[in-house]
Amino acid sequence: MITNGTSKTVVKLHVNGETRDVMIRSADTLLQTLREQLGLTAAKRACQNGDCGACTVLVNGEPTHSCLSLSIESVDQHITTIEGFNNSFIQQEFVDKWAIQCGFCTPGFILNCYALANKHPNADDATIEEWMQSNLCRCTGYQEIKEAVKSVLQKHAGGSVS
Ligand code: FES
Ligand code: FES
Repeated sequence: MITNGTSKTVVKLHVNGETRDVMIRSADTLLQTLREQLGLTAAKRACQNGDCGACTVLVNGEPTHSCLSLSIESVDQHITTIEGFNNSFIQQEFVDKWAIQCGFCTPGFILNCYALANKHPNADDATIEEWMQSNLCRCTGYQEIKEAVKSVLQKHAGGSVS
């Protein structure tokens, strides 16, 4: 870790399989750093209060609100944003089920769905409902999103999801 004398610190973040240098202040959120320094803008800046899930990323596979995480806490963690997915099976399911309207909430929902499929591949409807409650869709496309998530779980059937 190197300080530049102006209260910023250079650290390495592991994002989408790459190690990137970023210059952060102690109070910078992971969301800020991803968007403003790394140009990874799929995690959205919305409520910034932990209520909407638009800023969701995976930290060591766990869905995490990046608006509430400090960049400094993210050093040595493995961060995944939707930019790290490349035409994945889950993305295709969301397209096929018409689960995307304006798309603002979509990266967060897809990353949350990915974590659900890997942690609870046999989740029932109630579990799906509860799991996805951390994310809001302003276009209210919940029915389609639920269908896409269910389809991912059915097709996934205990295998590894990507
Ligand atoms: S912007 Fe982070 S939860 Fe809403
Ligand atoms: S698709 Fe528009 S906010 Fe969800």
